[in-house]
Amino acid sequence: MFDSGFGGLTVARALIDLLPAEDVVYIGDTCRYPYGPRPLDEVRDFARQITSFLIDQHDVKMVIVACNTASAAALDLLRFEHDVPVLGVIDPGVRAALKVSTSGRVGVIGTVGTIASGAYQRAAQSHRAPGELVCSACPGFVKFVERGETTSEQVHVLAERLLAPVKEAGVDTLLLGCTHYPFLARTIADVMGREVVLVSSADETAFEVTDILAETGTGHHPRAAGERGHHRFLSSGDVGWFKELGGRLLGPELDAVEAVLWG
Ligand code: DGL
Repeated sequence: MFDSGFGGLTVARALIDLLPAEDVVYIGDTCRYPYGPRPLDEVRDFARQITSFLIDQHDVKMVIVACNTASAAALDLLRFEHDVPVLGVIDPGVRAALKVSTSGRVGVIGTVGTIASGAYQRAAQSHRAPGELVCSACPGFVKFVERGETTSEQVHVLAERLLAPVKEAGVDTLLLGCTHYPFLARTIADVMGREVVLVSSADETAFEVTDILAETGTGHHPRAAGERGHHRFLSSGDVGWFKELGGRLLGPELDAVEAVLWG
């Protein structure tokens, strides 16, 4: 699985909790983050490179694009190019939000790239969502997470400004359409108020992985109760920082980080 940085760890956490015996290789492409403001063509190239790397160098049986921006930019192409299942986070997120919303008014926040791509509107249409999506970009949120600053006064002030459109639209559910945003959940919840339910794609993505492993018969069957998979974390940027902040965000499984260098 991969993300531009720490965001995909929200999906990794859900996956490790649900499927503790599966091996995981996580790549945080921190030397090229943030993906959100980049042209989608460029993000597509990054996603193709990382997906090929995971398949060729790590022999993975499935790739999870644990990044909305990369899912919006590249998912269809990656599925076409590779034989292993490739999963994104947009569809699972939409499914999760539609299950929760009672009014049908769902807000979606994401990076500039994700929101501008229209991927969420298309996903909602494919689910024949009855209500209305209110989509809004939140440039700047990701940088706070990458700095490890998730509850500061500055991030709160930014959240007040960026969340105003979805708040004013009276949504009952807010889909966190960027895998970094669950780390800002406290701040986002403070601004949105208690009556708005925050939804992330992490759990639903992990459930989808479970279904695919069952359908394809490729799940790992532990030989002993409590057997844990091997969890590897790679970063293309500062590995020391990835270990420090990643350990805080994900938990004890992230106790070592390897460097990955793009040629
Ligand atoms: N976590 C990513 C996403 O879900 C990317 C954030 C970024 O690099 O801008 O969109």
